[in-house]
Amino acid sequence: MKGTMVEWSDSLATGILWQDFQHAGLIARINRLHQAIIDKQAQSELRSMIDFLESYIENHFSMEERYMEVMHDPEIRGHARAHQQFRDNLRDLRNFEGTGAQLTAASLCYDLHEWITHHIRTIDKRLGRLIKEQDVS
Ligand SMILES: [Fe+2]
Ligand SMILES: [Fe+2]
Repeated sequence: MKGTMVEWSDSLATGILWQDFQHAGLIARINRLHQAIIDKQAQSELRSMIDFLESYIENHFSMEERYMEVMHDPEIRGHARAHQQFRDNLRDLRNFEGTGAQLTAASLCYDLHEWITHHIRTIDKRLGRLIKEQDVS
């Protein structure tokens, strides 16, 4: 098994309350899903966890993108493209879940965790700084 799945901590803070709150929720849900895959929980349970994660992430991404629009953030296209990549990865996981390829599903879920923590540390922290500078939070 790959390394441990860290929970949200101050090192991931952007300093924007709603962003930090949602990031913590996202990471917790990805971690819970990963554990559920490893524990071989029922497919219906896994599917509803993925459904929930999908709606949670849509809400989060659209909020960040709305802020970028309002602030005329020049990085909006690249940031939105990155969000699309996460959606694609989550869809891959959905497709694997249910095929019985438990190790692949667990590994895809692990990759989601790595993706989101890296995204927060780099692109979202930059967005957080911009929101603070423009004082629009
Ligand atoms: Fe983002
Ligand atoms: Fe984010």
